[in-house]
Amino acid sequence: MILVTGGAGFIGANFVLDWLAKHDEPVVNLDKLTYAGNMETLASLQDDPRHIFVKGDIGDSALVAGLLTRHQPRAIINFAAESHVDRSISSPEDFIQTNIVGTFRLLEAGRQFWAGLPAEAKAGFRFVQVSTDEVYGSLQPSDPAFSETNRYEPNSPYSASKASSDHLVRAYHHTYGLPVLTTNCANNYGPYHFPEKLIPLMIVNALAGKQLPVYGDGQQVRDWLYVKDHCSAIRRVLEAGKPGETYNIGGGNEKPNIDIVHAVCALLDELRPRGSGSYREQVSFIKDRPGHDRRYAIDARKIARELGWKPAETFETGIRKTVQWYLDNPDWVLRVQSGAYRDWVKAQYVTVAA
Ligand code: NAD
Ligand code: DAU
Repeated sequence: MILVTGGAGFIGANFVLDWLAKHDEPVVNLDKLTYAGNMETLASLQDDPRHIFVKGDIGDSALVAGLLTRHQPRAIINFAAESHVDRSISSPEDFIQTNIVGTFRLLEAGRQFWAGLPAEAKAGFRFVQVSTDEVYGSLQPSDPAFSETNRYEPNSPYSASKASSDHLVRAYHHTYGLPVLTTNCANNYGPYHFPEKLIPLMIVNALAGKQLPVYGDGQQVRDWLYVKDHCSAIRRVLEAGKPGETYNIGGGNEKPNIDIVHAVCALLDELRPRGSGSYREQVSFIKDRPGHDRRYAIDARKIARELGWKPAETFETGIRKTVQWYLDNPDWVLRVQSGAYRDWVKAQYVTVAA
């Protein structure tokens, strides 16, 4: 049995679906179901006894302690977080609560549970912290990619809150000996991605005939990884990672945002052509994100060398699968665009366009 937190979100849900497709080991899935949590994504597991879903907060110490005692998991994998940089700029409070206070409470409940385990279970227990490359800050064009020894220089309330939680995780290993593993991953994309993030927003807006809002000059660089490759890396870290270590995870696909948007347009032009012209005509350059990090890039040689992990998808194969998935699943997209989603889009894109 493993305990996954945030398993109704984009990466967590992909992880749970892939896990149960490959293993019979049950999953307790603790998720608060914020705007980003979506039970629809987990619909195929509704009657699956291997999936125990619990609606709740990682910051609810009594709830987490009760779950640990009842289910006796061998690992906690912490995906739960507020994850959207733009939201962290307009309202940072939830990021502090979940990413810092919530992770602290989860760690503390985990530590108390772990301390009471018999020796063998104690030695095998793992706490995996799913973190981000954004904690390292922004790279200059000629800088080498982020390695695990890069200094933390977070620039947004989101990345600062993730950096804080990573430091707490580190401290719980150093001080108490809790067997923790931290992963710092690049930008993910793929199925079930909430359409507030760049790639799904572009697909959904393009199909709806709306503008494709590119911040600033569109030359900010991200390193893109297909979500299922992130999930396979986390499984590998859980299986073979060395407690106390951190592992950077990336796809080796550094691309400026405008190239990503053009790649999405080209695929849509091929797979779902407009009446006339290209989806590119919908691109609109708007006001930049405040404090926008210019470039991220991941050096993933450590996880390749020490754990033998490498991604299965190239950007070209992954983005094609992703665009096709959105074309094949219009109902998922429609239902995820709830009132709360519409309110966010209205507020965000009025502000940033101004
Ligand atoms: P997401 O926003 O899609 O999902 C987050 C999930 O956490 C949601 O289901 C939400 O309901 C849940 N949640 C939020 N607060 C909670 C709380 N207090 N208690 C319990 N559940 C709570 O995020 P994602 O993109 O799937 O990211 C998952 C993790 O991976 C995050 O920790 C994020 O920092 C990290 N990460 C994301 C990316 C990326 O590109 N998306 C890249 C690297 C790392
Ligand atoms: O690098 C890992 C991080 O990737 C994760 O830790 C975060 O949880 C995840 O949200 C993601 O952060 P980004 O800010 O990089 O992702 P986002 O999809 O919001 O934006 C990607 C790039 O595209 C970024 O440079 C901002 C730009 N952008 C984004 C949106 C939503 C636009 O130009 N227009 C947009 O409308």
